[in-house]
Amino acid sequence: TSDHLRHVESMAQLPSGAGKISHLNAVILGESLASEENDLVFPSPEFSAQALVSSPNRCAGYQQMYRRSVEDPAGFWSEIASQFCWKEKWHPEVYAENIDVGKGTVRIEWFKGATTNICYNALDRNVEAGNGGKVAIYWEGNEPGQDGQLTYAELLDKVCQLSNYLKHVGVGKGDAVVIYLPMLMELPIAMLACARIGAVHRYSPQMSVVFAGFSAESLAQRILDCKPKVVITCNAVQRGPKTIHLKEIVDSALTECANDGISIGLCLTYENQSAMEREATKWQEGRDVWWQDVVPKFSTKCLVEWVDAEDPLFLLYTSGSTGKPKGVLHTTGGYMVYTATTFKYAFDYKPSDIYWCTADCGWITGHSYVTYGPLLNGATIVVFEGAPSYPDSGRCWDIVDKYKVSIFYTAPTLVRSLMRDGDEYVTRYSRKSLRVLGSVGEPINPSAWRWFFNVVGDSRCPISDTWWQTETGGFMIAPLPGAWPQKPGSATFPFFGVLPVIVDEKGNEIEGECSGYLCIKKSWPGAFRTLYGDHERFETTYFKPFPGYYFTGDGCSRDKDGYHWLTGRVDDVINVSGHRIGTAEVESALVSHPQCAEAAVVGVEHEVKGQGIYAFVTLVEGVPYSEELQKSLILTVRNQIGAFAAPDKIHWAPGLPKTRSGKIMRRILRKIASRQLDELGDTSTLADPSVVDQLISLSDC
Ligand code: PRX
Repeated sequence: TSDHLRHVESMAQLPSGAGKISHLNAVILGESLASEENDLVFPSPEFSAQALVSSPNRCAGYQQMYRRSVEDPAGFWSEIASQFCWKEKWHPEVYAENIDVGKGTVRIEWFKGATTNICYNALDRNVEAGNGGKVAIYWEGNEPGQDGQLTYAELLDKVCQLSNYLKHVGVGKGDAVVIYLPMLMELPIAMLACARIGAVHRYSPQMSVVFAGFSAESLAQRILDCKPKVVITCNAVQRGPKTIHLKEIVDSALTECANDGISIGLCLTYENQSAMEREATKWQEGRDVWWQDVVPKFSTKCLVEWVDAEDPLFLLYTSGSTGKPKGVLHTTGGYMVYTATTFKYAFDYKPSDIYWCTADCGWITGHSYVTYGPLLNGATIVVFEGAPSYPDSGRCWDIVDKYKVSIFYTAPTLVRSLMRDGDEYVTRYSRKSLRVLGSVGEPINPSAWRWFFNVVGDSRCPISDTWWQTETGGFMIAPLPGAWPQKPGSATFPFFGVLPVIVDEKGNEIEGECSGYLCIKKSWPGAFRTLYGDHERFETTYFKPFPGYYFTGDGCSRDKDGYHWLTGRVDDVINVSGHRIGTAEVESALVSHPQCAEAAVVGVEHEVKGQGIYAFVTLVEGVPYSEELQKSLILTVRNQIGAFAAPDKIHWAPGLPKTRSGKIMRRILRKIASRQLDELGDTSTLADPSVVDQLISLSDC
């Protein structure tokens, strides 16, 4: 605690030269600064003056709040939590935790004993406060001109109807609902409807939203894991020029589940007319039901079911370095308070803002910062069904101008790809409404940061580079726009209540300017509570590597001013376009191909995606390597995981570099993949060092 507080306090003494530059442009345009890391980008005085946490004295406002949040977390968070609606207050304490494996089972609880409902807080509370007529969702379809909107009151009605329907079909305590929908308004509606009926006594559905880019096999795996009573989907979706038949993917997943002895009784299907006609949709009588035929018949009033703050809200599967995806479990009360608070401060949210997050609800960003965080604040959100490059690369800015978007939150991969397409797609639009930009999913490289800042934001909008994870529920390290100067590429400082530490290999905290493994000391309200059905794996993965801490899996360095620089995963997880993919998952998909004997997958730098997937593949004895086979291997991965996990490169490997004990030396494979051949290091411990030369000679196959 003390080390971090020292850093926070030393922020007030930022380099004196930098302190004299009081306007953003002066820094951005200044060529004289020695290194990128020393570039400080100051919020304009106008922005700072209106910011929620402003900086008349540099970071004084933040420092005060931060200090309170870590010295008195119970007081800090209970004060914030009191702004929400609770049927009963927590007792006896605000939080209870043990994150030290040496002291027994890891346990994290916030606001236990309190009862609440996140849907009530997001919708009813806002309607009751007189904001029923405010637009909750602007929906923009794939084709320009296709749009819709719902006010808070209308959204509440729609959610209630679906809640009543789900109750009617017997979604009860312990039942799960799987949602496999594209970015239609029905996706947040379905999430909120599940949350509304999650009662502690009678209903406790676990909701799992599955990204609509996952394949039938991935979907089947998730369905088998949580055995839902209902699957909610739509018949098809239009993404750019392509029509994707979602219902057919669900059909194959359900057939796969049936083969495994799990039959799902109900598939509620939304008719997405713009993508596909009802008549053209394959149908299984008795199991499939059209949303539009049943849901509107139900009442628009549905009493909420009050749940314990620690009752499950949702499960979200994410990749780990080994084995099958992990079901990250988030509970209700702490998650609600944390997503709402982080949203408000990291985006400097004001009620007049129009907020657009380009993430899909199938990922944690879509849960926390498309749906819950903004709606809990009564914000107006934009939900976009289409692709950002359709009909051309200016689409995002067209949408920004159309809805007067003021906060725009996206991923570095999109920033890089739009940057590559050229400034004219951006400058063609006004973008005057923008005031805050956000980035998430992977480190944003300084050049993309600058382009985002200078071109998209006209050097006017601070960038909130938010570092967090599926597991953390909400932002952990992120700038508070207006509160302090930024450094392009740094996520800056921790959010209230978060205690990041950097440890060395032995788990010793390192102080001052350093690099190491990023861990978090103490819990925070939005933390996940377990891995569904596998608390032991939860402890082993996250709490055993460095006892006493939550281990993030990320590397991080801290500079002399205390700014945090995330350096990427230190485990076998690849981050492709902000999507987390376990190397083990791709390898297991590859070896399921009948002609593949062995596979080793590593990440390589990729200009747009951040990291690309590079697969070394050993074929079954006697099978010749061919282009067709390469295609079929890639197709296998697409079919089993999803298109986003398809390898960028298949490298034929008659042999893999292994130690004498049979362990694949990925370090060497990474160097071969990135063509850093003079940095292969010691290869003498390999069982057969000649495989390395063989691999190098096959590099361009
Ligand atoms: O490596 C970090 C990277 O994404 C990982 C978390 O991925 P996921 O659980 O899928 O959640 C993505 C959305 C929160 C982290 O371990 N990551 C995420 N945001 C950033 C980041 N790396 C650097 N900077 C970020 N802003």
